Amino acid sequence: MSETVRVFDTTLRDGEQSPGCSMNLKEKLTVARQLQRLGVDVIEAGFPIASQGDFEAVRKIAQELRGPILCGLARTPAADVERAAEALESAEKARIHTFIATSDIHLEHKLRMSRGQVIDEIGRAVSQARTYTEDVEFSAEDATRSDREYLVQAFSVALEAGASTVNVPDTVGYTTPGEYADLIRYLIDQVPGSDKAVFSVHCHNDLGLAVANSLAAVGAGARQVECTVNGIGERAGNTSLEELVMAINTRPDVYSGLTLGINAQEIYSSSRLLSSVTGVQVQPNKAIVGDNAFAHEAGIHQDGVLKAPITYEIMTPASIGRASNELVLGKHSGRHAFRDRLDELGLHAEGDEFERAFKRFKDLADAKKVIYNEDIEAIVADSSTTTEDRFELLELTITSGNATAPKATVSLAVDGDGKSTVASGVGPVDAIFRAIADLTETSSDLIRYQVHAVTAGLDAQGEVTVTIEEAGRRVIGNGVHEDVMVASGKAYVNAINKLEWHRRRHEVDEPRGI
Ligand code: KIV
Ligand code: ZN
Repeated sequence: MSETVRVFDTTLRDGEQSPGCSMNLKEKLTVARQLQRLGVDVIEAGFPIASQGDFEAVRKIAQELRGPILCGLARTPAADVERAAEALESAEKARIHTFIATSDIHLEHKLRMSRGQVIDEIGRAVSQARTYTEDVEFSAEDATRSDREYLVQAFSVALEAGASTVNVPDTVGYTTPGEYADLIRYLIDQVPGSDKAVFSVHCHNDLGLAVANSLAAVGAGARQVECTVNGIGERAGNTSLEELVMAINTRPDVYSGLTLGINAQEIYSSSRLLSSVTGVQVQPNKAIVGDNAFAHEAGIHQDGVLKAPITYEIMTPASIGRASNELVLGKHSGRHAFRDRLDELGLHAEGDEFERAFKRFKDLADAKKVIYNEDIEAIVADSSTTTEDRFELLELTITSGNATAPKATVSLAVDGDGKSTVASGVGPVDAIFRAIADLTETSSDLIRYQVHAVTAGLDAQGEVTVTIEEAGRRVIGNGVHEDVMVASGKAYVNAINKLEWHRRRHEVDEPRGI
């Protein structure tokens, strides 16, 4: 008999907490729609009490999406649980996920509560959550550094109060596969009523063991794994969804009798979409979705793969929806062909956004002979401005060289009004950024500037990523264009729009506490 392992995606909650990965409402909706196509069982859409922005995102996603369970995170205080319930009101299937720390380290230094008080909180919060929905998950934060017998008590109280899923987080990425499997086995054995509950695991990657720990826990009986696309998340990240799924799919002999509801063909699009939305690219050698994950460099390997792929290939790029770098469209392709290709790539652009993307595609097709899937993904990501954007790059002209001082003339729309200025700098990028900082009246620090070619070829588009910081807030901006200087200007404006958005997003006074 086969048993299902539920995939609980927390890209929009724990993932969004990683530096530079914050997303606005529109971006979260785009990612949520892709998670639905990917077939995840649960989408943790945010932490509604943390900010008005988080609340709105959970509410909008709950209103729109049908299929996956929609989950909102809450600490144990009544106001947290109530806010999560409010945000999930229109969900087809709503889950409230409440948590509190159970390790003595957290009780003593963070919560300043006794073990007894924490137990009371668990019972109260889960019972309250049950008044809103039948689907309640309880997490014992820092479970892997908690006393085992106390954990049994905490989970027993949660189940008695009506939780149906209990989660055992390795919050600080401290455990090891054997130890974690042993803990899961112990809890399933000791917690009364464990046969009626789903045991869930949630791992952080501080020691690079998040996927290994999650798989070991599945082997020990866990039937829900919490993970994120590209493994994004606090510090070193969370369990990577694509690695977990492909390990189970590629080794049915090891994970026999276990099934997943994931549509693996959507893995690559999900990874690419998240990278373009956040501006955070995965490392080239990242398993499954990195640029080199299927590239065979050594001659002896190439020879083997040509003779029989099985010699060095344990899975195919096609199994994760990773098409070869094919030529897709040319300058004679019309609207219809362009829309069909967007659908095939799982990309969505409607109305003005579609028109902007189509125009960019036509301009690019005039300038460049071959248009690849990667070009189209980059164009769509770049054409999606949001109504929340204050600034838009209108024109940029640059003079530079070894016999002239770099000078940039830049025009921006600022709150809809056109403004221009001229600035000089040490180099052309410096001149452009100075002009933009002047027009937007901002003074952030530039932390990192990166350029990469979207595809091969001398006529490839350049994708620029800039990381800037202002008053301790770090954001990443992205821009794509066949002219790298224009891409630089777009990336900088994109980053400044994100800073503006953060300034307006109302944060609660309390820290998130996780
Ligand atoms: O890492 C953690 O403990 C968490 C919990 C809220 C599940 O993210
Ligand atoms: Zn976490």
